[in-house]
Amino acid sequence: METSPEWINLLAKALKRNRKLPYARYLQLATVTEEGKPSCRTVVYRGILEGSPTKLKVITDVRSEKIKHLKKNKWVEACWYMPETREQFRIQGLAQSVLASDEDEKMQDHRFQQWKQLSDAARSSFADPHPGIPKDPDWTGKEAIEGVDPSVPHENFVLLIIDPKCVDYLNLRPNPQLRAYYTLVEENGSWNCTEVYA
Ligand SMILES: Cc1cc2nc3c(=O)[nH]c(=O)nc-3n(C[C@H](O)[C@H](O)[C@H](O)COP(=O)(O)O)c2cc1C
Repeated sequence: METSPEWINLLAKALKRNRKLPYARYLQLATVTEEGKPSCRTVVYRGILEGSPTKLKVITDVRSEKIKHLKKNKWVEACWYMPETREQFRIQGLAQSVLASDEDEKMQDHRFQQWKQLSDAARSSFADPHPGIPKDPDWTGKEAIEGVDPSVPHENFVLLIIDPKCVDYLNLRPNPQLRAYYTLVEENGSWNCTEVYA
């Protein structure tokens, strides 16, 4: 059983101290394209997966490019800056996509729970036309609102779980600045910490 590493406590503390800033819950998530190029976008942090010490939750659309990338390469890096406390977390790990077709009951349960927590507007966006295609001038958006059930996730709704393997933590506040690498030891679930020069 993995125990909570120091970095997750730092993250929890940072989220608390930055709670007045809604955008402190936005992080940049990078994937690797099929051609090996980087691809980065902003996503919303949706909390820690219940029952896990470190897995981060994000939601997305199955039709998005990131899901295509993750089919071939599950490595991601999240880069997260907390403006109030001037801390940066660079979290590298493996992403698991919990799709509508996922047969793991526990994971599907997490997906259902996450769907129920969304606003109606957020839920209806999953029934919108395919992201990235040219707009149809006649599209009204009504179809989307009518096509979602608040208790059953839309087929396009994906719960993305990021399983961190190493974290590069930087705190700009102290002088000298504080930087540390946290690395998961897969054999026993513990985390190594090395303080480094910033
Ligand atoms: C503030 C903000 C929050 C966003 N949150 C999410 C999110 O939680 N999930 C998501 O899939 N996209 C979110 N987006 C949109 C993504 O940045 C991106 O445009 C979209 O996911 C398509 O990216 P992809 O096709 O490269 O996967 C957000 C954008 C912004 C600006």
